[in-house]
Amino acid sequence: MAAVALQEPRVEILDLRHFSSVDLRPLLDAEIEVWSHLLSWDYSGSADMILRYIDAKILPGYAAIDRGRVFGYAFFVYEGNKGVIGDLFVANGRRLTNPNEVESRLVTHVIETLQQSPGIHRVEAQLLLHEAKAVARPFLEQGFSRHARLFMLQQLANSVPPVPLQPEIDIRRWSEQDYQTAAAIITNAYRGHVDSEINDQYRTLSGSLRFLNNIVRFPGCGTFDPEASFVAVHKRSRTIVGLILCSRVRHDVGHVTQVCVLPEYRSLRIGESLMACTAANLRQRKFSLLSLTVTEANKRAVDLYFRLGFTTERVFDAFVWEG
Ligand SMILES: CC(C)(COP(=O)(O)OP(=O)(O)OC[C@H]1O[C@@H](n2cnc3c(N)ncnc32)[C@H](O)[C@@H]1OP(=O)(O)O)[C@@H](O)C(=O)NCCC(=O)NCCS
Repeated sequence: MAAVALQEPRVEILDLRHFSSVDLRPLLDAEIEVWSHLLSWDYSGSADMILRYIDAKILPGYAAIDRGRVFGYAFFVYEGNKGVIGDLFVANGRRLTNPNEVESRLVTHVIETLQQSPGIHRVEAQLLLHEAKAVARPFLEQGFSRHARLFMLQQLANSVPPVPLQPEIDIRRWSEQDYQTAAAIITNAYRGHVDSEINDQYRTLSGSLRFLNNIVRFPGCGTFDPEASFVAVHKRSRTIVGLILCSRVRHDVGHVTQVCVLPEYRSLRIGESLMACTAANLRQRKFSLLSLTVTEANKRAVDLYFRLGFTTERVFDAFVWEG
């Protein structure tokens, strides 16, 4: 009796710059659905930006092709001596025996390209759409370290009101003039912190300024929402001692892109108050959800978020390689 062999589609991995937005649009539409479903995130602004870069042929990366159609992609960007893997997505609905295999092939191509790029000494990746460990193999085989991170959500209807603070601390709204000081606060707050292993921008003032620039001026991580962003000020010295930055990732969803308090001002409930101010502002403006990501090992922050009513919706991985 003749065995019937199921034909595995012939998957090719090609340079992303061979393709245009017309080829990628259906894939990005599928990805928008997944971001919405898994993370309550409207990815359409980011998708449009990616497609513009693809048409300009300036986005390095790889596409997975089956019979002429793009059904998966991964891209990266160069930031000085560092490569950052921006995205990895393979559309479901294909009858592949092992879709994970395509993700691994895309990741392997990206890692090899970055590790062989002259001057690149560091590679970072945070893959929010992928369950922890799901795509870890090619990273670990190439010498990356892995850090589990949590994606957490708070129903704003259940958020707690801001607590009264010590009289010498004031909380006021973020202003554009806080930019430089905020970078110094971030650098100070993350000294020796696990998150500065994951994102080396936190280690220097210029890096923290670049981080702020990405958050506040570019729409990569939602749209910055200055109304829901605050700073904690020590009244007498008029210095900023903590801050919270929030972006809008869907018409009714806020995302905390940064919250930190200077080490010498911790345990005074400033962190809790900053979170509560953001939640109260969003709630008043009829937002329904607030999300954030946090490194699992950052126990102090995780405990604070649990206490404020956040729940863990996903666990994903951050990967780091230093050459
Ligand atoms: C996480 C961080 C912002 C918290 O700021 P904070 O001002 O120290 O936080 P709070 O004082 O509001 O809460 C933390 C402490 O107060 C206690 N606390 C706060 N609210 C409380 C409450 N309602 N009931 C009881 N205890 C409470 C907590 O148990 C915790 O206690 P500890 O200091 O003994 O560990 C701060 O530690 C920080 O900047 N860390 C570095 C940057 C960082 O990790 N940011 C988060 C990235 S996702």
